[in-house]
Amino acid sequence: MKEEIVIEVENLRVDFENVVACKNVNFKVYKGEIFGLVGPNGAGKTTTLKVLSTLLKYTWGKIKIFGYDIEKDFKEIRKIVGFMPDFPPVYNELKVWEFLYLYASSYRIEKEKRMSRIEALLNTFNLFEKRNSFIGELSRGMKQRLILAKTLIHDPEILLLDEPASGLDPTGRKELGEMLKKIGKSGKTVIISSHILTELADFCTSVGIMEKGEILLYGKIDEISGIPKDKTLIRLRIKENIDLKEILGDYQKIEKIEKIEGNCWKILIKGDENSIPELIKFVTDKGISIVEIKKEKEDIQTIYFKSGAKYVT
Ligand SMILES: Nc1ncnc2c1ncn2[C@@H]1O[C@H](COP(=O)(O)OP(=O)(O)OP(=O)(O)O)[C@@H](O)[C@H]1O
Ligand SMILES: [Mg+2]
Repeated sequence: MKEEIVIEVENLRVDFENVVACKNVNFKVYKGEIFGLVGPNGAGKTTTLKVLSTLLKYTWGKIKIFGYDIEKDFKEIRKIVGFMPDFPPVYNELKVWEFLYLYASSYRIEKEKRMSRIEALLNTFNLFEKRNSFIGELSRGMKQRLILAKTLIHDPEILLLDEPASGLDPTGRKELGEMLKKIGKSGKTVIISSHILTELADFCTSVGIMEKGEILLYGKIDEISGIPKDKTLIRLRIKENIDLKEILGDYQKIEKIEKIEGNCWKILIKGDENSIPELIKFVTDKGISIVEIKKEKEDIQTIYFKSGAKYVT
């Protein structure tokens, strides 16, 4: 099945008075993807997201969202996009439900449907018990969840989230990751920015690496990971301190083998994961004890290095 392109950015350029914030930015995002926009401070992430949310005028470029032209059809686009800014305005003197009601009204959700929509979101984001609390009384993580709930109020097809994990503790980050995975599975498309690579690694399906206003590399993690489709990367830890490369030298299915550290080896084998049992048999037949074996994806960090970006966290 052909995948549906939801966001298409061509040659985007954004000039501020003295700075070119984005230049020649090109990327595509497909339906259901969780696209991580990653790069250091000042890379142009917020600028890109603001343009996509129709809130910022750009200098030139061509941008389509669900086939709509961002310039001509911005009203349509606003209906299908939910934007969570990096420093969202919160109104400490409003109650949690009032805040959501405010946005429900401004998105013109029918009056009789507003409260049920708000209730559903409060439940999803574990805030139902706090519905009558003032926003000023919420913890940072709760505020983040409330902002995310607000971003979803009009049930947008696309979510643009600018550093939503900042200020969250590890549990909060994990919860956010789980929620985003669910959102992606429901068919919605998410772009999420961060300058912390590891923050995105667990739940992004694709990534765009940005530096100095340019996208250096983008694509599905599986496709840009460098592991060919017909090969499998394995991490193997053995008990013996031996040269596994020499011992496996006559095993035909090995494409590449290198030592990572200690008795741990990275092995690229021909074939899909069905080749793993055969490898295990071959190794154990040589009298070697396997302590751990794991099929590996090349991680986001490796992709980052490949992009040529200089900055990494
Ligand atoms: N309103 C503005 N006026 C002038 N320059 C701006 C404006 N907004 C952003 N810039 C500049 O554009 C560049 C990109 O900024 P942007 O906020 O998009 O980066 P970012 O990747 O989101 O960084 P961070 O990780 O710090 O949020 C920076 O050099 C910044 O100083
Ligand atoms: Mg930013």
